[in-house]
Amino acid sequence: MPRFGKHARFIVHEENCFNGGAPLELLMQTEITPQALFFVRNHAPVPEIDPSAFRLTIDGDVENTLVLSLDELRSQFPDQTVTATLQCAGNRRHDLADYAPIADQLNWGNEAISSAVWTGVSLGEVLMVAGVKPSANHVAFLGLDEVKKDDATFGYGSSIPLGKALRPEALLAYEMNGEPLPAVHGFPLRVVVPGYIGARSVKWVTRITAQAQPSDNYYQAVAYKLFPPQMTAESIDPEAGWMLGELSVNSVICLPAADSILKAGSLVVSGYAMAGGERSVARVDVSSDGGKTWINAELLGTDSAWTWRLWRAELTLVPGDYELTVRAWDTAANTQPEAVRHVWNAMGYMNNAWHRVKIRVV
Ligand code: MTE
Repeated sequence: MPRFGKHARFIVHEENCFNGGAPLELLMQTEITPQALFFVRNHAPVPEIDPSAFRLTIDGDVENTLVLSLDELRSQFPDQTVTATLQCAGNRRHDLADYAPIADQLNWGNEAISSAVWTGVSLGEVLMVAGVKPSANHVAFLGLDEVKKDDATFGYGSSIPLGKALRPEALLAYEMNGEPLPAVHGFPLRVVVPGYIGARSVKWVTRITAQAQPSDNYYQAVAYKLFPPQMTAESIDPEAGWMLGELSVNSVICLPAADSILKAGSLVVSGYAMAGGERSVARVDVSSDGGKTWINAELLGTDSAWTWRLWRAELTLVPGDYELTVRAWDTAANTQPEAVRHVWNAMGYMNNAWHRVKIRVV
Protein backbone atom coordinates (compact mmCIF):
# COMPACT_ATOMS: atom_id res chain seq x y z
CA MET A 1 0.00 0.00 0.00
CA PRO A 2 1.28 3.50 -0.73
CA ARG A 3 2.24 5.43 2.42
CA PHE A 4 0.53 8.48 3.93
CA GLY A 5 -2.98 7.05 3.59
CA LYS A 6 -2.93 7.23 -0.18
CA HIS A 7 -5.21 5.08 -2.36
CA ALA A 8 -4.07 1.56 -3.33
CA ARG A 9 -3.88 2.71 -6.96
CA PHE A 10 -1.95 5.94 -6.21
CA ILE A 11 0.94 6.23 -8.70
CA VAL A 12 4.08 6.62 -6.55
CA HIS A 13 6.81 8.32 -8.60
CA GLU A 14 9.33 8.48 -5.74
CA GLU A 15 9.38 6.86 -2.29
CA ASN A 16 11.98 8.74 -0.22
CA CYS A 17 10.85 12.21 -1.16
CA PHE A 18 7.31 10.87 -1.46
CA ASN A 19 5.88 12.00 -4.81
CA GLY A 20 2.86 10.80 -6.73
CA GLY A 21 -0.67 11.27 -7.95
CA ALA A 22 -3.89 9.44 -8.76
CA PRO A 23 -4.79 7.59 -11.97
CA LEU A 24 -6.80 10.04 -14.08
CA GLU A 25 -10.01 8.03 -14.11
CA LEU A 26 -10.07 8.20 -10.29
CA LEU A 27 -8.85 11.80 -10.10
CA MET A 28 -11.67 13.14 -12.23
CA GLN A 29 -14.52 11.36 -10.46
CA THR A 30 -15.10 14.25 -8.05
CA GLU A 31 -14.71 18.02 -8.14
CA ILE A 32 -13.11 17.91 -4.67
CA THR A 33 -10.27 15.41 -4.55
CA PRO A 34 -10.37 13.04 -1.56
CA GLN A 35 -7.16 13.16 0.54
CA ALA A 36 -6.27 9.62 -0.57
CA LEU A 37 -6.09 10.75 -4.22
CA PHE A 38 -4.62 14.25 -3.84
CA PHE A 39 -1.23 14.48 -5.61
CA VAL A 40 1.93 14.96 -3.55
CA ARG A 41 5.03 16.92 -4.51
CA ASN A 42 7.89 16.84 -2.00
CA HIS A 43 11.52 17.89 -2.34
CA ALA A 44 12.52 16.33 0.99
CA PRO A 45 11.21 13.70 3.42
CA VAL A 46 8.00 14.60 5.26
CA PRO A 47 8.99 16.24 8.60
CA GLU A 48 7.46 15.11 11.90
CA ILE A 49 6.22 18.18 13.74
CA ASP A 50 5.02 18.42 17.33
CA PRO A 51 2.04 20.78 17.03
CA SER A 52 2.37 22.01 20.63
CA ALA A 53 5.97 23.12 20.05
CA PHE A 54 5.19 24.60 16.62
CA ARG A 55 5.58 28.37 16.19
CA LEU A 56 4.93 30.59 13.18
CA THR A 57 7.16 33.67 12.93
CA ILE A 58 6.21 36.70 10.82
CA ASP A 59 9.21 38.98 10.43
CA GLY A 60 11.24 41.07 7.99
CA ASP A 61 9.88 44.44 6.87
CA VAL A 62 7.08 44.54 9.46
CA GLU A 63 6.29 46.90 12.35
CA ASN A 64 5.74 44.03 14.81
CA THR A 65 7.46 40.68 14.58
CA LEU A 66 4.89 38.02 15.51
CA VAL A 67 5.60 34.59 16.96
CA LEU A 68 2.36 32.59 17.14
CA SER A 69 1.47 29.13 18.39
CA LEU A 70 -1.23 27.24 16.50
CA ASP A 71 -3.75 28.03 19.25
CA GLU A 72 -2.89 31.74 19.07
CA LEU A 73 -3.24 31.74 15.29
CA ARG A 74 -6.62 30.03 15.49
CA SER A 75 -7.97 32.17 18.31
CA GLN A 76 -6.69 35.56 17.15
CA PHE A 77 -7.85 35.32 13.52
CA PRO A 78 -11.23 34.28 12.06
CA ASP A 79 -11.46 31.04 10.04
CA GLN A 80 -11.59 31.32 6.34
CA THR A 81 -12.41 28.61 3.79
CA VAL A 82 -11.38 28.60 0.12
CA THR A 83 -11.92 25.83 -2.41
CA ALA A 84 -8.78 25.79 -4.55
CA THR A 85 -7.00 23.56 -7.03
CA LEU A 86 -3.25 23.08 -6.72
CA GLN A 87 -1.32 22.27 -9.87
CA CYS A 88 2.41 21.63 -10.01
CA ALA A 89 4.37 23.55 -12.65
CA GLY A 90 5.70 20.13 -13.72
CA ASN A 91 2.25 18.72 -14.52
CA ARG A 92 2.20 17.19 -18.06
CA ARG A 93 6.01 17.12 -18.18
CA HIS A 94 6.01 13.65 -19.81
CA ASP A 95 4.79 15.10 -23.12
CA LEU A 96 7.66 17.64 -23.07
CA ALA A 97 10.15 14.85 -22.27
CA ASP A 98 8.80 12.79 -25.18
CA TYR A 99 9.52 15.72 -27.50
CA ALA A 100 13.10 16.41 -26.29
CA PRO A 101 15.11 15.23 -23.26
CA ILE A 102 14.62 16.87 -19.87
CA ALA A 103 17.33 16.14 -17.32
CA ASP A 104 16.76 15.11 -13.68
CA GLN A 105 13.13 16.07 -13.27
CA LEU A 106 10.19 14.02 -12.09
CA ASN A 107 8.39 12.66 -15.15
CA TRP A 108 4.86 13.73 -14.21
CA GLY A 109 1.97 12.55 -16.32
CA ASN A 110 -1.24 14.58 -16.12
CA GLU A 111 -1.93 13.82 -12.46
CA ALA A 112 0.00 16.63 -10.68
CA ILE A 113 -3.24 18.53 -10.03
CA SER A 114 -5.98 18.18 -7.39
CA SER A 115 -8.64 20.25 -5.70
CA ALA A 116 -9.50 20.66 -2.01
CA VAL A 117 -11.51 22.76 0.44
CA TRP A 118 -8.90 24.55 2.54
CA THR A 119 -9.66 26.12 5.93
CA GLY A 120 -7.30 28.34 7.85
CA VAL A 121 -6.75 32.03 8.41
CA SER A 122 -6.22 34.81 5.92
CA LEU A 123 -2.52 35.37 5.18
CA GLY A 124 -3.34 39.03 4.48
CA GLU A 125 -4.96 39.53 7.90
CA VAL A 126 -1.89 38.10 9.66
CA LEU A 127 0.34 40.41 7.62
CA MET A 128 -1.89 43.41 8.45
CA VAL A 129 -1.53 42.73 12.18
CA ALA A 130 2.25 42.47 11.74
CA GLY A 131 2.09 45.80 9.87
CA VAL A 132 3.90 45.47 6.56
CA LYS A 133 6.31 48.36 5.91
CA PRO A 134 6.27 50.18 2.54
CA SER A 135 9.72 48.71 1.74
CA ALA A 136 8.19 45.22 1.35
CA ASN A 137 7.26 44.03 -2.14
CA HIS A 138 7.32 40.27 -1.60
CA VAL A 139 6.32 37.77 1.05
CA ALA A 140 8.69 34.81 1.51
CA PHE A 141 7.75 31.47 3.10
CA LEU A 142 10.01 28.90 4.74
CA GLY A 143 9.10 25.26 5.42
CA LEU A 144 10.32 22.95 8.19
CA ASP A 145 11.35 20.15 5.83
CA GLU A 146 15.07 19.57 5.25
CA VAL A 147 16.19 19.64 1.63
CA LYS A 148 19.72 18.31 1.06
CA LYS A 149 21.44 19.81 -1.95
CA ASP A 150 25.12 20.31 -2.79
CA ASP A 151 26.29 19.64 0.81
CA ALA A 152 23.78 22.14 2.22
CA THR A 153 20.61 21.41 4.23
CA PHE A 154 17.84 23.97 4.12
CA GLY A 155 14.07 24.33 4.38
CA TYR A 156 12.02 24.53 1.19
CA GLY A 157 11.03 28.12 0.50
CA SER A 158 9.48 30.45 -2.05
CA SER A 159 7.78 33.84 -2.26
CA ILE A 160 4.86 35.66 -3.82
CA PRO A 161 4.34 39.34 -4.56
CA LEU A 162 2.91 41.30 -1.59
CA GLY A 163 -0.20 42.20 -3.62
CA LYS A 164 -1.09 38.51 -4.00
CA ALA A 165 -0.31 37.79 -0.35
CA LEU A 166 -2.84 40.45 0.71
CA ARG A 167 -5.65 39.07 -1.47
CA PRO A 168 -8.53 37.28 0.29
CA GLU A 169 -7.90 33.91 -1.36
CA ALA A 170 -4.36 33.55 0.05
CA LEU A 171 -4.57 31.30 3.12
CA LEU A 172 -2.57 29.81 5.95
CA ALA A 173 -4.41 26.50 6.03
CA TYR A 174 -4.67 23.99 8.86
CA GLU A 175 -7.54 21.92 7.44
CA MET A 176 -8.04 20.13 4.13
CA ASN A 177 -11.51 18.87 3.18
CA GLY A 178 -12.75 19.47 6.73
CA GLU A 179 -10.02 17.40 8.41
CA PRO A 180 -6.71 18.39 9.97
CA LEU A 181 -4.07 18.87 7.29
CA PRO A 182 -2.41 15.47 6.67
CA ALA A 183 1.35 15.27 7.41
CA VAL A 184 2.21 14.80 3.74
CA HIS A 185 0.26 17.94 2.77
CA GLY A 186 1.89 20.21 5.37
CA PHE A 187 0.63 19.50 8.90
CA PRO A 188 0.22 21.58 10.97
CA LEU A 189 0.18 24.63 8.66
CA ARG A 190 0.66 25.38 4.98
CA VAL A 191 0.33 28.28 2.62
CA VAL A 192 -2.33 28.02 -0.12
CA VAL A 193 -1.90 30.44 -3.02
CA PRO A 194 -4.83 29.86 -5.41
CA GLY A 195 -4.10 30.65 -9.06
CA TYR A 196 -0.33 30.20 -8.67
CA ILE A 197 1.87 27.18 -9.37
CA GLY A 198 1.75 24.70 -6.49
CA ALA A 199 5.40 25.43 -5.63
CA ARG A 200 4.35 28.70 -3.95
CA SER A 201 1.98 26.94 -1.53
CA VAL A 202 4.69 26.13 1.03
CA LYS A 203 3.95 23.21 3.35
CA TRP A 204 5.00 22.98 7.03
CA VAL A 205 5.40 26.78 6.91
CA THR A 206 7.21 28.15 9.97
CA ARG A 207 8.40 31.57 8.86
CA ILE A 208 6.84 34.33 6.76
CA THR A 209 9.11 37.24 5.88
CA ALA A 210 8.06 40.53 4.26
CA GLN A 211 10.94 41.75 2.12
CA ALA A 212 11.91 43.97 -0.79
CA GLN A 213 13.09 41.17 -3.11
CA PRO A 214 11.74 37.70 -3.97
CA SER A 215 13.00 34.82 -1.81
CA ASP A 216 16.60 33.72 -2.45
CA ASN A 217 15.66 30.13 -1.59
CA TYR A 218 16.75 27.62 -4.26
CA TYR A 219 13.10 26.87 -5.16
CA GLN A 220 12.42 30.51 -5.99
CA ALA A 221 15.79 31.78 -7.21
CA VAL A 222 16.96 28.75 -9.24
CA ALA A 223 14.23 26.13 -9.72
CA TYR A 224 10.70 26.88 -10.95
CA LYS A 225 12.02 29.32 -13.52
CA LEU A 226 10.95 29.27 -17.15
CA PHE A 227 13.40 29.32 -20.05
CA PRO A 228 12.54 29.74 -23.73
CA PRO A 229 12.45 26.59 -25.92
CA GLN A 230 15.74 27.41 -27.67
CA MET A 231 17.71 27.07 -24.40
CA THR A 232 18.77 23.50 -23.67
CA ALA A 233 20.08 22.15 -20.33
CA GLU A 234 23.63 22.80 -21.61
CA SER A 235 23.03 26.34 -22.88
CA ILE A 236 20.84 27.63 -20.03
CA ASP A 237 21.71 31.12 -18.86
CA PRO A 238 20.17 31.22 -15.35
CA GLU A 239 19.75 34.99 -15.64
CA ALA A 240 17.52 34.47 -18.69
CA GLY A 241 14.93 32.45 -16.75
CA TRP A 242 11.99 34.14 -15.10
CA MET A 243 10.24 33.12 -11.87
CA LEU A 244 6.97 31.29 -12.33
CA GLY A 245 3.92 32.56 -10.52
CA GLU A 246 0.46 32.48 -12.09
CA LEU A 247 -0.66 29.30 -13.82
CA SER A 248 -1.48 29.42 -17.52
CA VAL A 249 -4.69 28.07 -19.05
CA ASN A 250 -4.57 24.30 -19.54
CA SER A 251 -6.81 21.30 -20.23
CA VAL A 252 -6.42 17.53 -20.27
CA ILE A 253 -8.43 14.59 -21.55
CA CYS A 254 -8.75 12.09 -18.70
CA LEU A 255 -11.10 9.62 -20.39
CA PRO A 256 -10.84 7.70 -22.63
CA ALA A 257 -7.26 6.76 -21.79
CA ALA A 258 -4.60 6.86 -24.51
CA ASP A 259 -4.57 3.81 -26.80
CA SER A 260 -8.07 2.70 -25.75
CA ILE A 261 -9.91 0.44 -28.18
CA LEU A 262 -13.59 1.39 -28.07
CA LYS A 263 -16.86 0.32 -29.68
CA ALA A 264 -18.31 2.50 -32.46
CA GLY A 265 -21.19 4.79 -31.52
CA SER A 266 -21.56 7.37 -28.82
CA LEU A 267 -18.45 8.21 -26.80
CA VAL A 268 -18.13 10.49 -23.79
CA VAL A 269 -14.82 12.37 -23.58
CA SER A 270 -14.07 13.99 -20.23
CA GLY A 271 -11.31 15.74 -18.37
CA TYR A 272 -10.26 18.85 -16.49
CA ALA A 273 -9.42 22.44 -17.42
CA MET A 274 -7.70 25.06 -15.28
CA ALA A 275 -7.06 28.77 -15.73
CA GLY A 276 -4.61 30.78 -13.59
CA GLY A 277 -4.06 34.06 -11.77
CA GLU A 278 -7.49 35.55 -11.12
CA ARG A 279 -8.96 34.14 -14.34
CA SER A 280 -11.37 31.25 -14.71
CA VAL A 281 -12.09 28.75 -17.49
CA ALA A 282 -14.33 30.29 -20.16
CA ARG A 283 -14.62 27.51 -22.74
CA VAL A 284 -13.35 24.03 -23.58
CA ASP A 285 -13.43 22.56 -27.09
CA VAL A 286 -12.83 18.96 -28.13
CA SER A 287 -11.76 17.58 -31.50
CA SER A 288 -11.75 14.01 -32.81
CA ASP A 289 -9.52 14.78 -35.80
CA GLY A 290 -6.45 16.29 -34.17
CA GLY A 291 -7.79 19.85 -34.25
CA LYS A 292 -9.34 20.27 -37.72
CA THR A 293 -12.91 20.44 -36.39
CA TRP A 294 -14.14 21.09 -32.86
CA ILE A 295 -17.20 20.71 -30.68
CA ASN A 296 -17.89 22.69 -27.53
CA ALA A 297 -17.61 20.72 -24.27
CA GLU A 298 -20.02 21.10 -21.36
CA LEU A 299 -18.41 22.70 -18.29
CA LEU A 300 -19.42 20.91 -15.08
CA GLY A 301 -19.42 22.14 -11.48
CA THR A 302 -19.01 25.74 -10.42
CA ASP A 303 -17.25 28.64 -12.07
CA SER A 304 -14.37 29.89 -9.89
CA ALA A 305 -10.98 31.40 -10.57
CA TRP A 306 -9.45 29.17 -7.90
CA THR A 307 -10.60 25.77 -9.11
CA TRP A 308 -10.42 23.53 -12.09
CA ARG A 309 -13.53 22.87 -14.23
CA LEU A 310 -14.31 19.28 -15.04
CA TRP A 311 -15.87 18.99 -18.49
CA ARG A 312 -17.49 16.44 -20.82
CA ALA A 313 -18.30 16.18 -24.50
CA GLU A 314 -20.21 13.55 -26.45
CA LEU A 315 -18.95 12.33 -29.82
CA THR A 316 -20.41 9.80 -32.24
CA LEU A 317 -17.62 7.83 -33.86
CA VAL A 318 -17.54 5.24 -36.65
CA PRO A 319 -14.71 2.66 -36.78
CA GLY A 320 -11.30 4.19 -37.40
CA ASP A 321 -8.26 5.76 -35.73
CA TYR A 322 -8.78 9.08 -33.96
CA GLU A 323 -6.69 11.75 -32.28
CA LEU A 324 -8.85 13.27 -29.56
CA THR A 325 -7.66 16.79 -28.76
CA VAL A 326 -8.70 19.38 -26.19
CA ARG A 327 -8.04 23.09 -25.79
CA ALA A 328 -9.42 25.67 -23.36
CA TRP A 329 -9.77 29.45 -23.09
CA ASP A 330 -9.69 31.53 -19.94
CA THR A 331 -11.71 34.65 -19.15
CA ALA A 332 -8.87 36.89 -20.41
CA ALA A 333 -9.08 35.23 -23.87
CA ASN A 334 -5.82 33.32 -23.43
CA THR A 335 -5.81 29.92 -25.08
CA GLN A 336 -3.40 26.99 -25.34
CA PRO A 337 -0.62 26.66 -27.91
CA GLU A 338 -1.14 23.95 -30.51
CA ALA A 339 2.11 22.01 -30.20
CA VAL A 340 4.53 20.95 -27.49
CA ARG A 341 7.44 22.40 -29.47
CA HIS A 342 6.10 25.90 -28.76
CA VAL A 343 6.29 25.40 -24.99
CA TRP A 344 9.13 22.89 -24.50
CA ASN A 345 11.66 24.16 -21.96
CA ALA A 346 14.71 22.48 -20.48
CA MET A 347 13.26 22.17 -16.95
CA GLY A 348 9.93 20.90 -18.24
CA TYR A 349 7.53 23.39 -16.66
CA MET A 350 4.12 24.75 -17.65
CA ASN A 351 3.22 22.40 -20.49
CA ASN A 352 -0.12 23.72 -21.69
CA ALA A 353 -0.02 22.59 -25.31
CA TRP A 354 -3.24 21.08 -26.72
CA HIS A 355 -3.62 17.68 -25.10
CA ARG A 356 -3.95 14.77 -27.52
CA VAL A 357 -5.05 11.17 -26.98
CA LYS A 358 -4.98 8.52 -29.72
CA ILE A 359 -7.76 5.93 -29.69
CA ARG A 360 -9.06 3.21 -32.02
CA VAL A 361 -12.77 2.70 -32.63
CA VAL A 362 -13.86 -0.74 -33.87
N1 MTE B 1 6.49 22.97 0.59
C1 MTE B 1 7.55 22.39 1.19
N2 MTE B 1 7.86 22.79 2.42
N3 MTE B 1 8.31 21.46 0.57
C2 MTE B 1 8.03 21.06 -0.73
O1 MTE B 1 8.73 20.19 -1.26
N4 MTE B 1 6.58 21.36 -2.68
C3 MTE B 1 5.84 22.39 -3.40
C4 MTE B 1 4.66 22.90 -2.58
N5 MTE B 1 5.07 23.18 -1.24
C5 MTE B 1 6.92 21.66 -1.39
C6 MTE B 1 6.16 22.61 -0.66
C7 MTE B 1 5.35 21.96 -4.68
S1 MTE B 1 6.49 21.92 -5.94
C8 MTE B 1 4.03 21.71 -4.92
S2 MTE B 1 3.45 21.41 -6.47
C9 MTE B 1 3.05 21.68 -3.82
O2 MTE B 1 3.66 21.90 -2.56
C10 MTE B 1 2.35 20.36 -3.76
O3 MTE B 1 1.46 20.30 -2.69
P1 MTE B 1 0.87 18.89 -2.24
O4 MTE B 1 2.00 17.94 -2.01
O5 MTE B 1 0.06 19.16 -1.03
O6 MTE B 1 0.02 18.43 -3.40
